[in-house]
Amino acid sequence: MYMIDVHCHILYRVDDASQRSTESLDMLKVAAADGIRTIAATSHIKPPMYENTKQDLQEALDRVRALIQANHLDIEVILGAENFLNHKSMHLLDEDGFVSYGDHGKYMLVEFAWTKNIYDKPTSYLQRIIDKGFIPVVAHPERYQWVHEDYELVRLWRNMGCLMQVNRTSVLQLDKMEKANIFALRLLEDDLVDCIATDSHAPYPPRSPKLSDVYKYISEHYGEAKAKHYLVDMPAKIIAK
Ligand SMILES: [Fe+2]
Repeated sequence: MYMIDVHCHILYRVDDASQRSTESLDMLKVAAADGIRTIAATSHIKPPMYENTKQDLQEALDRVRALIQANHLDIEVILGAENFLNHKSMHLLDEDGFVSYGDHGKYMLVEFAWTKNIYDKPTSYLQRIIDKGFIPVVAHPERYQWVHEDYELVRLWRNMGCLMQVNRTSVLQLDKMEKANIFALRLLEDDLVDCIATDSHAPYPPRSPKLSDVYKYISEHYGEAKAKHYLVDMPAKIIAK
C-alpha cells in the first residue's frame, strides 16, 4: 500500500517550513518509514511573504531529489505548490505564476486566508481557475473560520468541480484549532472529503509527514475502501499527467 501525500512542505528555505537540508532529510525518512512513496512538494506561493516562482521551486526540488539519491531513500518528490488566492495574488493566474501538480496543468492546490477580507471573492477565484482549465484542490477547508460560518460553500465548490483536501491532523484531532477538528469530522460524515494529506512543515509532531495513522482511522470508521480512496487513489489521480 503506497500512500501519496498531496500537501507537504518538504522543500527547504522556500517558505515557513524546513530551513535546512537535514530537516528535509528527516522529513523524507519519517515519510518513507511510514509508507509514503510519493510526496508533492507544495511550498507556499504567497506574495509578498513567499514570492516563489516555478523556477525557484524547481531548483529547491532538485536539491531535495539530490538528498534522496545520496541517502538511497525509497521515495519520490514531485513539483507542486500551495497557491494562495486573494485579491492581491490572483494576477499570478494570468501570468502563469501559479504552479499545478507536476506542472501538468491539471490539478492545482489552492489556499485562502484564515480571515476573509471584504475584497476577497473565493468562489469567483475558484471559477477563474476552472475557466483556465485547472481543477482546484482546496487545501484544508476545515481550517477557515468563514467556511465554518457558511458550510454550504463546501457543497457549492464541490459541485463546481473542486476537490476538498482535509489535513490528517484535523481528522485525528491533533490540531490546536479545535473548530477545524470538529469541522473535519463533519465533512467526513457528510461525504464531502476528496483526499487527506499531511500539510507537514517539519519531521516532528503534530504535523509529522505521516499518513498511516489516518489510513487506519479512516479504515476503522468508514471502511478500507474509503481510506484507499483518500490516501492512494485520489492522490494518484491528482498527481498524474
Ligand atoms: Fe500547507
